[in-house]
Amino acid sequence: MNRKIGPNQSQRFTKPPEDSEQLNPEPLKLFKNKEIREQVLLGLHQKSVLSANDFSAEQITELVKFAASLESLEISKAHPLDGKIAITAFFEASTRTRCSFESAVLRLDGKIISIPEGSTTGVKKGESLEDVGEMFNAYGDLVIMRHTATDAIARIRQGLRLPIINAGNGTGEHPTQALADWYALIKWRPALIDPDAALSLKLGILGTPGSMRAVKSFLLMALKFRDKIDSVTFISEMADPLGDEIKEAIRSAGIDYTVSNDMGKHLPELDVIYMNSIVCVGENYTAMDSSYKLNKDSPLKEGAVILHPLARLDELDRSLDDSPHNLYFSQAHGAVFIRQALLICILGRLNTMPREVPLVP
Ligand code: CP
Repeated sequence: MNRKIGPNQSQRFTKPPEDSEQLNPEPLKLFKNKEIREQVLLGLHQKSVLSANDFSAEQITELVKFAASLESLEISKAHPLDGKIAITAFFEASTRTRCSFESAVLRLDGKIISIPEGSTTGVKKGESLEDVGEMFNAYGDLVIMRHTATDAIARIRQGLRLPIINAGNGTGEHPTQALADWYALIKWRPALIDPDAALSLKLGILGTPGSMRAVKSFLLMALKFRDKIDSVTFISEMADPLGDEIKEAIRSAGIDYTVSNDMGKHLPELDVIYMNSIVCVGENYTAMDSSYKLNKDSPLKEGAVILHPLARLDELDRSLDDSPHNLYFSQAHGAVFIRQALLICILGRLNTMPREVPLVP
């Protein structure tokens, strides 16, 4: 095995905004306890990922530390995914999720069967997703699927015996987006995973978790960091942006929450603002909560950060891109490494890691 480490992978493409060292820190320097507990990550071997709730707080913590290693070190020469094939089956448009998963696999020397447009499969001729799943069993080692229909993952799993990663299902969930969100946030505030550090973040959500899958998965993962979160404020045009299931999850976590349509009142108090506007409605898209717009003149708290899963419309003005509030580019770029970490675990290749990756049994 080649143990040489070279320039880190992220140097190739990450262009941090000006004055944003805090937002684009050197990942490996972040954590007091850098050792990655291999035993926790071994629990992900051959697992499917359908919901943010499929991860324990422990697994998220170890995945984040592992991703920080992958972002800091050059490990592609260890060929971690050599001989593995990932099938990316996208029945709905994507820029970041498909390309970052494919980049993650290719940079680790795995191979891809890429279906960027579901209508190129037999589904166009009436084939069922159950039958497509049965075929995929013979072609690859893992399926990464996005679909406009919320029940599509359940349907393909009736025929599929490979692990599957939900890359966004209708109005359901987008669990690996939540991993990317929390990877960016934990790099910004490593105290989130330090049991000895005090932290009390005020989260704000501009959007509708009941209809926006990325927002829902972000929120479900937030509940796993309940000890570090003071409160969550939902700012939405909807009278009930949460729905009963999400309300019950927040109540069970014991986190204070407020629902409001008054952005101006709450914005100056928030440490983290998660925003989104595009939602799927069947085969089409629409914008929701789009009256809530942020730009460089918005009354943001000093030090506050903005997350957005992207794509954006006009709710997130480009004037913020060069500001210290921009955590959304770190969120998008870091997705490659957190997805690499997850793929290595699911595909059982932790044993290929060079010794510079601080795994402990
Ligand atoms: N964040 C996200 O899901 O982006 P894409 O729709 O481009 O994949």
